[in-house]
Amino acid sequence: MLTLTKKVRFCCSHKLYNPAFSDTENRRIFGPCSHLHGHNYVLEVTVKGTADPHTGMIMNLNTLEKYINDEIIDWVDHKNLTDDIPVFKETLPTVENMVMIFWNKLRDVLPADSLYKISLQETEDNRAEYTG
Ligand code: NI
Repeated sequence: MLTLTKKVRFCCSHKLYNPAFSDTENRRIFGPCSHLHGHNYVLEVTVKGTADPHTGMIMNLNTLEKYINDEIIDWVDHKNLTDDIPVFKETLPTVENMVMIFWNKLRDVLPADSLYKISLQETEDNRAEYTG
C-alpha cells in the first residue's frame, strides 16, 4: 500500500471533567487533567492511493494541508475545546475522542476512501491513532 502523511501542529486547552461524576471521582479518574490546561498537539493525517502517472503524487500535499487547515486547525487552534467548541461539551476532549471527531470531519471532505489513518500526539509520551 502506498501512503502519504502530512504533519501539522496546533495548540489548545481542555478540561477532562465529566459532570456526571463527583469532584472526587473526576480527580481520581482524570487527575490533574480535570483542571483546565493546554497541549501542543501534533496531528498526522495519512492518505492512501496510487501515484498519479503525471504528477507522481497520491494527493498534492498543499491540497491535503488545506483540507486539514480548513476542517481542523481553523476550528481548534488556540481554542478552549471544553468551553468554545460545542461538540466537546458533550464528548470529553480526550485525545481518543478528538482523533475520532477529526476523522469524521476529514473523511467527509477528502476524496472517497482516501483517508487511511489519523494520529494525534498530545504529549511526547502519548498519542491516539484512528483508522476508521
Ligand atoms: Ni490534557
